[in-house]
Amino acid sequence: MMRLNFKTVLLILVVATLSFLLTSWNNCGSGLFFHTADWKTKYQHKDRLSTESGYQEIDCHINGDYSIGCRKEGDEVYIPFSFIHKYFEIYGKLATYDGLERFEWLHSYSKIVNPKGKYDSRGVFMTFENYNVEVRDRVKCISGIDGVPISTQWESQGYHYPTQIAQFGLSHYSKNLTEPEPHRKIIEDSDKVKQNWNVPQGSIMSRVYDKQVNSLVLKFATPETSISGISLTLDHVLDFVLKWDLNIKDNGSITVVLESREKKETYYLHYVTSNTVLHNYNNHVYYGIGLANHQWRRLTRDLLVDLQKGLYLNDKSRKKLPRSKLKVVKIILYGSGMIDNMTLSTSEHMEQFYDAARWFVANQNVTSGGWPNPVKRKVAPGMAILEPGWYSSMGQGHAISVLARAYYHSGDAKYLQAAIRGLRPFRLSSAKGGVAAMFLGKYIWYEEYPTIPSSFILNGFIYSLIGLYDLKMIATAKDAEEASRLFNQGMTSLKNMLMLYDTGSGTIYDLRHFTLKTAPNLARWDYHSTHINQLLLLNSIDNDPIFITTAERWIGYMNGKRAAHN
Ligand SMILES: *[C@@H]1O[C@H](CO)[C@@H](O)[C@H](O)[C@H]1NC(C)=O
Ligand SMILES: *[C@@H]1O[C@H](CO)[C@@H](O)[C@H](O)[C@H]1NC(C)=O
Ligand SMILES: *[C@@H]1O[C@H](CO)[C@@H](O)[C@H](O)[C@H]1NC(C)=O
Ligand SMILES: *[C@@H]1O[C@H](CO)[C@@H](O)[C@H](O)[C@H]1NC(C)=O
Repeated sequence: MMRLNFKTVLLILVVATLSFLLTSWNNCGSGLFFHTADWKTKYQHKDRLSTESGYQEIDCHINGDYSIGCRKEGDEVYIPFSFIHKYFEIYGKLATYDGLERFEWLHSYSKIVNPKGKYDSRGVFMTFENYNVEVRDRVKCISGIDGVPISTQWESQGYHYPTQIAQFGLSHYSKNLTEPEPHRKIIEDSDKVKQNWNVPQGSIMSRVYDKQVNSLVLKFATPETSISGISLTLDHVLDFVLKWDLNIKDNGSITVVLESREKKETYYLHYVTSNTVLHNYNNHVYYGIGLANHQWRRLTRDLLVDLQKGLYLNDKSRKKLPRSKLKVVKIILYGSGMIDNMTLSTSEHMEQFYDAARWFVANQNVTSGGWPNPVKRKVAPGMAILEPGWYSSMGQGHAISVLARAYYHSGDAKYLQAAIRGLRPFRLSSAKGGVAAMFLGKYIWYEEYPTIPSSFILNGFIYSLIGLYDLKMIATAKDAEEASRLFNQGMTSLKNMLMLYDTGSGTIYDLRHFTLKTAPNLARWDYHSTHINQLLLLNSIDNDPIFITTAERWIGYMNGKRAAHN
């Protein structure tokens, strides 16, 4: 999402001409802006003529309400762009290229990237290869316990938000298919790469064969009083995704020491046996990885994300640490256990995707098929509060999109089974703990938020349809038929209701104006472009021309085009 920096243009007067304003603003056809004569006498104009520049300063009265300073040159009046920006929500910036400075006017801050081809349920998910879920401010951190994001969107202490976890998984799956091959370096695997760890007096370390995993592994133990631990000195730059297999016997931890190359500052990332997700103390950041259970498990940690989130916890003004200025200088083992297959890579997208997929298998209510949202949610004044435990059609659909891909990629039936169970809330009304609402007793709508009265949010509904489509393509026999039935039913509703979201100059986020009889909830540009991306995707899998025709008109709105008036 690109937001332009307006600071540079706020002070600049000039640019937008009155003629543009008159043609682009429907309600000012009466030449209101030329009737300045009365105001001049009323407001005692200072007619300062600047002879060098040839313009005159002139007050501009806005709807008879307040004044701003403008400029007049001949018959033309120039309005400051800073005012236009706020008044019309138009964007612009100065840009220099080919040796010429220009002003670039943009109706929308968002852009549409055309899909590369037909949507494929085994491929990239919409445009999610561009998403970076973990760096969002409303993500507290990636939990060391299960490897998925912890949201702070609606509750500051943090919770598992299925929709966000799915977006995290889908973005990593999509990046795996679109990014260049990562650089990978084995740090220690007790086999091909054996390092010279520093084992202080009283600590022990040995390479042993572990039958369970059929591999040589590194076994270690340090006394409880050990300060230095068993350490490995490194001098590693640029690759910051650490992956390793770990089997903790007693309370232990793995500490990664990073150094800022310039400032000579040292940071400590401690992965400790604890169920406390995250805390920090100065430059020491602690991630809980759950309690010791004598089981092998794989941890994949983006050290930069972990460090950033940890430092940000106590200091919200903290600047981002640039990748180019950090290096990994040490890895330290404490307590007792075993490690294997330790690598540093530029990315481990599939590992992170499977962290999300496994979370959906482990955290589904197998009776209802739902992934509960564990927070209260008030969608709009006049709508009943959703109590913790509600299901979202978007969360369900996104989860199904993750699980369908995990099944396709791994062949493991547990992912498919969870995806199929995920259909259950689609069959149950939103008033009774499911996600299905009815529009005017006629059209079934899958609710992103199962509110009373219904909210009919457009983007969440379409995401849920994409999930149903993914399952229809990946499953077989009666499961594919069931997904297909729910999908077709939703597509019929969408085709019949889509135009309700078109304002003639943009789109509407939901139908609360209809169900609550309030002002419409207009979609901001990034949601408007999501609507368009979704229609372009649907256009590639359904030949009804409504999708492309509508998408093209909605793209026009982003370039200042409007529907004709009477
Ligand atoms: C994508 O995942 C495969 C494993 O499924 C891996 O071999 C490959 O390196 C990954 N590529 C990228 C760009 O992440
Ligand atoms: C480490 O990787 C090797 C090769 O993929 C594998 O055979 C072994 O089981 C792994 N070790 C653990 C502890 O999972
Ligand atoms: C592990 O730590 C917990 C809490 O800090 C403590 O209660 C427990 O006794 C420790 N266990 C061992 C084996 O040291
Ligand atoms: C799972 O769903 C069932 C059916 O809706 C419900 O009765 C039960 O309380 C849920 N279980 C949990 C642990 O929330």
